[in-house]
Amino acid sequence: MNNKLGCVILAAGEGTRMKSELPKVLFPICGKTMIEYVIEASSSLNPLQIYVVIGYKADLVKQKILSSEYIKPNIKSKIVFVTQKQQLGSGHALLQTKNFIDKKIDTLLTLSGDVPLIEPTTLKEFYNVYKKTKVDISVLCVKMQNPQGYGRIIKTPSGDLKDIVEEQDATEIQKKIKEVNAGIYIFKLPKLWSALKKIRPDNVKKEYYLTDVVKFLPKKNVYLCNNPIEVAGVNTRADLVEIESYVKNKIIKNLMLNGVSIVSPETVYITHNVKIEPDVTILPGSVLENVIIEKNCEIGPYTYIKDSTIAEGTKIVFSYIEGAKIGPYCKIGPYSRIRPQTILDKNVSIGNFVELKNSVVQEMTKINHLSYIGDSEIEKMVNIGAGSITCNYDGVKKHKTYIGANSFIGSNVNIIAPIKIGHNVVIAAGSTVTKDVPPYTFVIAREKEIHKVGHRIVKRIFNKNSKE
Ligand code: UD1
Ligand code: CA
Repeated sequence: MNNKLGCVILAAGEGTRMKSELPKVLFPICGKTMIEYVIEASSSLNPLQIYVVIGYKADLVKQKILSSEYIKPNIKSKIVFVTQKQQLGSGHALLQTKNFIDKKIDTLLTLSGDVPLIEPTTLKEFYNVYKKTKVDISVLCVKMQNPQGYGRIIKTPSGDLKDIVEEQDATEIQKKIKEVNAGIYIFKLPKLWSALKKIRPDNVKKEYYLTDVVKFLPKKNVYLCNNPIEVAGVNTRADLVEIESYVKNKIIKNLMLNGVSIVSPETVYITHNVKIEPDVTILPGSVLENVIIEKNCEIGPYTYIKDSTIAEGTKIVFSYIEGAKIGPYCKIGPYSRIRPQTILDKNVSIGNFVELKNSVVQEMTKINHLSYIGDSEIEKMVNIGAGSITCNYDGVKKHKTYIGANSFIGSNVNIIAPIKIGHNVVIAAGSTVTKDVPPYTFVIAREKEIHKVGHRIVKRIFNKNSKE
């Protein structure tokens, strides 16, 4: 633990340019929110505490951080939330932390909640260089091909840092400067506080700019980062898409290096919390969010899987799966929908236009065509015929269906729950079954069929037709 170092993350802003009800720092990039990225990065320097300045929808931001699956408990315990009641600017935001900072801390690394891709190695290097120079402020900066929107670094003729000018306040000549402020700083305490108190909102946005402290801190320098994407700030949804495609490509490349085949990767979307074993093939158009996939599976084309685990050797084509546990060597799709709390055992076959919900299906069972199975337990080696459904809902309550091993349910059978169908039962096609069925039973429950040869209806229709 570095007892002298504290980290501040500025995350109180609304993010007006996102045009959203969601606070900007809660926008996800491949399943992880921006604020989670920044907290993870800041923790890499092992600071004594991490101060997160929240304001706009503070409770929502706080809740997300505390429930994060990405931030480890030992990091969560270092987080101190500081509220900025009114969003009067980044300088005002940082000043709010003054009374919270631990007395042992003499150095503050300050990060922006909307600069998510900063790498731990860069932060470490930035900090190490700072320690050697003994300045009051060090500004992490970068040369951008297109510096639009960023604060420009103004230097003296001898190349020293003089000022930072925001886009809106910059002259045409200053706008041509490509060296920009990344929004990541290291400050020496307590000098920062007196400088922060001197800044005034005398600019186009009428905000207390953190960048104005440069004017009041005599010893200053810049640290140049050579990787612009790391310090790209997200202000608009267009910025977000750019960053997300970079992150997504990184995730996909990593998976490929670990033995996963991803055909046509530009059409595939995969979030951070996806684990895939070697020799899995992901086919075009597939979306995977929070999924574990074991070896030798084939997923896609055009398959969406969320919050699920898929055991080895399973094939899923053109399907939608959410909150399910799929066993090994299953065949799913095309056009299957598997809803939450569904568990499939091994070698289960789920076919086209089949919907499963909150059901357990044992090994070797086949539900291959046009079925709805809800709130059910189906044992092994059962065959559910085309169009058969469980009628689990009576308009008020949901009821359970049990079907025993080896049973053969013919096509178009309505199974009215609650019901228990024993093992080795055969139910004739078109039956509507309402009562429990004991094992080794044949059930037929349909209207008696009547055939009338030469009936007048036949005559009326076909005689008329023959005249025409
Ligand atoms: C800021 C810098 C700019 C830099 C850019 C890098 C200032 C004045 N300018 O501009 O030089 O090039 O970042 O991305 O800082 N915030 C608060 N409370 C507020 C206002 C902002 O907590 O009252 C937070 C925001 O949530 C955000 C950060 O401070 O995380 C930066 O604010 P933002 O308005 O995005 O500043 P930029 O215009 O991007
Ligand atoms: Ca910003």
